[in-house]
Amino acid sequence: MATTLTVNGQSQTVDLPDDMPLLWVLREGLNLTGTKFGCGIASCGACTVHLNGEAVRSCQIPLSDAAGAEVVTIEGLGTPTALHVVQSAWVAAQVAQCGYCQSGQIMQATALLAVTPDPTDAEIDTAMEGNLCRCGTYPRIRAAVKDAALRLKGV
Ligand code: FES
Ligand code: FES
Repeated sequence: MATTLTVNGQSQTVDLPDDMPLLWVLREGLNLTGTKFGCGIASCGACTVHLNGEAVRSCQIPLSDAAGAEVVTIEGLGTPTALHVVQSAWVAAQVAQCGYCQSGQIMQATALLAVTPDPTDAEIDTAMEGNLCRCGTYPRIRAAVKDAALRLKGV
């Protein structure tokens, strides 16, 4: 059945099974491969996207739950020539190592800063604890979130 949703500001109609996880709709149906598959059971955060402004694990969202919704992926956050402020902070802090987890980390951090613009270390750790990084970039992630908070304040 055809399902229409908005992805990165563009209306998209896909003819895919209702129970297909949003992760695969994005990757296979719309060729948005910045969102990664890690575990498939909501345990790693690699697949994090925004659904109506909230960070969600796209491996756990059936397409039917995204019908009519606004989805934002890492591709919709900024562009290579006009990075989102969180992406700029990530680059400045040289957060990424292998990079596999990082689109999920950035989507999670962006959702945090949207509701908590000046997070404490504890708030950062709580918000980010579901996003795993096998490379152990956690200290740089925390530093980048703090830098992004300052940038968003214009400091
Ligand atoms: S792939 Fe979705 S949480 Fe790991
Ligand atoms: S940078 Fe390698 S898993 Fe996070």
